[in-house]
Amino acid sequence: MEVVICSDEQQVGQVAANRVLRWVEGLTTPVLGLATGSSPLALYNELARRVEEGEIDFSCGIGFALDEYVGIDPENPLSYRQTILRTVVEPLRMDPTRVRVPNGSASDLAAAALEYDRAIAAAGGVDVQVLGIGSNGHIGFNEPTSSFASRTRVKTLTEQTRADNARFFGEGERVPTHCVTQGLGTIMEARHVVMVVTGRHKARAVTAMIEGPVAAVCPASILQFHPSVLVVVDEAAATGLNHADYFRHVVDILI
Ligand code: F6R
Repeated sequence: MEVVICSDEQQVGQVAANRVLRWVEGLTTPVLGLATGSSPLALYNELARRVEEGEIDFSCGIGFALDEYVGIDPENPLSYRQTILRTVVEPLRMDPTRVRVPNGSASDLAAAALEYDRAIAAAGGVDVQVLGIGSNGHIGFNEPTSSFASRTRVKTLTEQTRADNARFFGEGERVPTHCVTQGLGTIMEARHVVMVVTGRHKARAVTAMIEGPVAAVCPASILQFHPSVLVVVDEAAATGLNHADYFRHVVDILI
């Protein structure tokens, strides 16, 4: 696992974008795995800037979102479908017909989830998976104790996750209790993973993921087994790392 500690969110976005561009270089139809939430916005903004400047073109790219709420209409602005369209597809000038989000409104959620994994495989698998991390160590919505072998499926959200995500919902609007999320096994099949994390409230989860034992209580720790992971954090998210000096030293040599 490669870890880069950045001074601020803007640098986080730049470092992560540099790596994404390196990983998709030469691919005619790059397949991106897309996270929603606050963390990857710096990366998406930086990628959008580079699209604007003509450095990269994602119009032939394919996208698969990580997750969607159950019971929220895909047309609802709070749905992850709409969030992905607003924060990724439009700014990166991707073709919306080539970007999929799990269907949280399907009458047969299990069948739709199975079909989602098949669609990822049919696209040749994910080239670069973008991830954030929950304050409880989740990736996607694979909450603590999720199976490391899990595939896309329905999960119950923890109260912690619902509280963390309440900020996206208005007063009187209930945060859904369930979601459809790519499984840990699904995520681990991506060829490359870039995780973006900012803020002190994520420090404990970041430390558990990078320096803790590989354990289902911190689902993100499974990434220790992935051969190509870059974790880009700001100083606040790095405050719990015992090996922070080592990670800075590694970067110094690379520069
Ligand atoms: C979102 C997702 C989640 C978030 C995580 C962090 O699609 O899969 O794992 O990445 O909850 O969310 P933020 O970045 O909003 O703190």
